[in-house]
Amino acid sequence: KKVIKVGMMGFGTVGTGVVRIIRGHQEDLLKKSGLKIEIEKILVQNIDKKRNLSVPSHLLTVNPEEILYAKEIDVIIEVMGGIHPAKEYILAALEQGKHVVTANKDLMALYGDEILSKAKEKKCDVYYEASVAGGIPILRALMDSFSSDRITKITGIVNGTTNYILSKMSHEGADYTEALQEAQALGYAEADPTSDVEGLDAARKMVILSTLGFHIPTTLDEVSVKGISQISKEDIAYGKKLGYEMKLLGLAEQNEDGIEISVEPTLVHLSHPLSSVHGVFNAIYVHGEAVGETMFYGAGAGELPTATSVVSDLVSVVKNIRLAINGQNITSSYKEKKCKSDNE
Ligand code: NAP
Ligand code: HSE
Repeated sequence: KKVIKVGMMGFGTVGTGVVRIIRGHQEDLLKKSGLKIEIEKILVQNIDKKRNLSVPSHLLTVNPEEILYAKEIDVIIEVMGGIHPAKEYILAALEQGKHVVTANKDLMALYGDEILSKAKEKKCDVYYEASVAGGIPILRALMDSFSSDRITKITGIVNGTTNYILSKMSHEGADYTEALQEAQALGYAEADPTSDVEGLDAARKMVILSTLGFHIPTTLDEVSVKGISQISKEDIAYGKKLGYEMKLLGLAEQNEDGIEISVEPTLVHLSHPLSSVHGVFNAIYVHGEAVGETMFYGAGAGELPTATSVVSDLVSVVKNIRLAINGQNITSSYKEKKCKSDNE
């Protein structure tokens, strides 16, 4: 096998970034993954739409079957968003033995279990780093770097759109609606921004973080959620006078009584580093019994930061495929993996 062929579902903000990175970093990706990566097809809704990035027209399709049942496609990148039909497409792709990379937190927070079980059954990979905090490699950190520790608390700013809005209102006196429209124009907001501003997007991310961090399946109904739509410029200005910055904070804590998870607007003292996380940036504190406190900071949304996580996941998948083909020094589950037939 010399080339890994990818079918991408969605060509909006994140999908455009994925194509840019695969095109722009072709040689690096080959060096790092060991195999050439090519986008074979891209599923869109409206084939006639004017795009920010041009691709050969034969790549675009409105027919998901051209990706899901294409023998030559090894990996699906799902960046279309929403629950349906993204869930059905991912399950169908796994059923066909295709590996999956997704940025879809709505789906992973609600149906992560089902998707990961299907992946296990079919011996396929599912990676979803971009689903939480855009370009910050927080899921890898929770799954790998902290695997020796017992995580007790995860807290921080996990939604770029609301942090952008609150920062604009606090520092530039912008109106809520105007700041939201800017965040939408910059590609930070969800297709329906209600999930950003009402805290649901952050809640879904906290579900993913706590499931991975605490190794206990967590569901959305366990999260107490409050968004920022009722926060006024006056609230923000009043907080500032007292030495605080308004932030939408996610908190997941494990104690003797179980797990507590919340998302709510919080006044953060100006002496705390989270108070100076502005714009689309996110920051997450992970507290472990042995490691103590750690902080992860970076762009939480946007085309290229998010696509960086997606393409890094793709590189991981490709490395696994290569190792499985070569039967190299790998774990038994990868040795057994024969997810796709070779197209040498
Ligand atoms: P977007 O700009 O709205 O793009 C969505 C793309 O999916 C569009 O190309 C659209 O086609 C296509 N699409 C949607 N529904 C479809 C359907 N039923 N059939 C075929 N194609 C369909 O979305 P995005 O901002 O790139 O976000 C994509 C995913 O990444 C979401 O799960 C989001 O939560 C996640 N994410 C986004 C960011 C970010 O900063 N934007 C960051 C992290 C994670 P058309 O172009 O033809 O309309
Ligand atoms: N709408 C999300 C945000 C995208 O603003 O954080 C990144 O997950």
